[in-house]
Amino acid sequence: MNPSLIVLGVTGCIAAYKSAELLRLLQKQGYEVQVVLTEHARNFVTPMTLAALSRRRVITTLYQQEQRDEGPQEVAIEHVQLPQAASALVVAPATANCLAKFATGIADDFLSTLYLATTGPVIVAPAMNVHMWNHPSVKENVGRLRSRGVILVDPEEGYLAEGIEGKGRMADLETIVSAVVNAARGTRDLAGETVLVTAGPTCEDIDPVRYLSNRSSGKMGYEIASAARTRGATTILVSGPTQLPPPAQVQCLKVRSAEEMRSQVLRHFSEATIVIKAAAVADFKPASRSGQKLKKGQAPPHLSLVPTPDILAELSNRTHGQILVGFAAETERVLENARKKLAAKKLDLLVVNDVTQEGAGFDGDTNVVTMLTAEGSEIPLGKRSKRDMAHAILDQVVALKKRHA
Ligand code: PMT
Repeated sequence: MNPSLIVLGVTGCIAAYKSAELLRLLQKQGYEVQVVLTEHARNFVTPMTLAALSRRRVITTLYQQEQRDEGPQEVAIEHVQLPQAASALVVAPATANCLAKFATGIADDFLSTLYLATTGPVIVAPAMNVHMWNHPSVKENVGRLRSRGVILVDPEEGYLAEGIEGKGRMADLETIVSAVVNAARGTRDLAGETVLVTAGPTCEDIDPVRYLSNRSSGKMGYEIASAARTRGATTILVSGPTQLPPPAQVQCLKVRSAEEMRSQVLRHFSEATIVIKAAAVADFKPASRSGQKLKKGQAPPHLSLVPTPDILAELSNRTHGQILVGFAAETERVLENARKKLAAKKLDLLVVNDVTQEGAGFDGDTNVVTMLTAEGSEIPLGKRSKRDMAHAILDQVVALKKRHA
């Protein structure tokens, strides 16, 4: 892989004229840029312009022989080789048609085929009419792409080409460049690692219809698994019950109870080099599970609880060089309690969230955390999306790995 190579896909809408400037901004960041133009994009910007700026042949078709004099023929690239060679794919502007093709796996031109063959980070900057952007189909496609780890640089409010105000204008070029730089920076820095992540709640059954659980949606852990995969790790996700689709190219093992989570985690522990436990595991479960639905009408049953196994504490006694990362969901004396957990569970890193704080903890798309390291550092990370948080946690894990090496 060439860490300084970025693929810039350009699709057919008026914002395509900005691609020349985007290319130059990426070059200023030190990247070589390989441009891929769709057929429609050629109505808005010429291959010759982008070939001259990039000093590379611009790819416009799946079939090499159909390409004519569109610039210097210095590279022979195929749709499956290029994504392996590049550190990121950025598509700007991305039309509604492009989002639909990416979301549904249609591969009928070079760009959509290349997207399917890409395992590294993908950054997409949509641009379209405000009504198109608000259309349920587009929203659904955007949601699907996000859930698969594609980084969406949302369009902005502003004056649109058709003369109306609204959301749909392609994001500012500096914003797109910074998303590309962030995504490409971490590229493949976890290659060779096996990351075991836990996510979601556990459900502890009372009877066949009732259970004890908590408010974890799984989002934090799924973002970590997806980010680890994007950064080149073999990734195993052990997930409690959630509504989330499994992240692409991640081995996802579904479990229900703390006991089931424990057995899957222990099964895969020896192959892991990094373990990140974002799951909200139940601390207690009913002492017994009724085989039949408990009937009302009599006195309410007395629910007697027993502790579940503390999986993380167990791992810390079995570790053979793995980096162990725990999460702590706290509601009071947050850092004091967290420091005790860090020491008691012998962790390398503890990610603490005060789940009473706005924008932190369960279910939302953001989190606010402080990272505590075994060496005594305290690293506060202000409110940010769970995806950005996942990358910031992995940055810290990579730094720890380097110190342990
Ligand atoms: O899933 P989301 O909706 O995105 O919400 C994210 C989150 C709030 C669940 C996440 O950020 C978080 O804080 N996860 C850990 C929640 C938790 O269980 O904290 P704890 O302080 O009770 O546990 C400490 C650590 O021990 C955790 O890493 C936990 O996975 C682990 N543990 C806890 C109990 C147990 N029996 N076994 C464990 O391994």
